[in-house]
Amino acid sequence: MTALRIADGFRRGAAVTFDVDGVAVVGHRGETLAAALLAAGFARLRHSPRDFSPRGAYCFMGACQECVVQVGGVLRQSCQVPVEDGLVVGLKGSL
Ligand code: FES
Repeated sequence: MTALRIADGFRRGAAVTFDVDGVAVVGHRGETLAAALLAAGFARLRHSPRDFSPRGAYCFMGACQECVVQVGGVLRQSCQVPVEDGLVVGLKGSL
């Protein structure tokens, strides 16, 4: 054991499957939805309502609101939602 946890290797949690606009995506237990989306290649999560520019997770700690997506039809900050089996995520129609 060293002072740095990452020096001992990195183990992801068990795989979970969730739905993003009808596409099955694999994440890992212990990750936030924002992290799982980014790891799966979903960097753009929504468009700005003002100028339609692409937006994505920025702070990963619930402060910026840039990661808002629909989770089960409700707008949520994806960096504050633990990824789990069966989540239904909508990127289309998010703010
Ligand atoms: S990434 Fe900033 S609130 Fe989620």
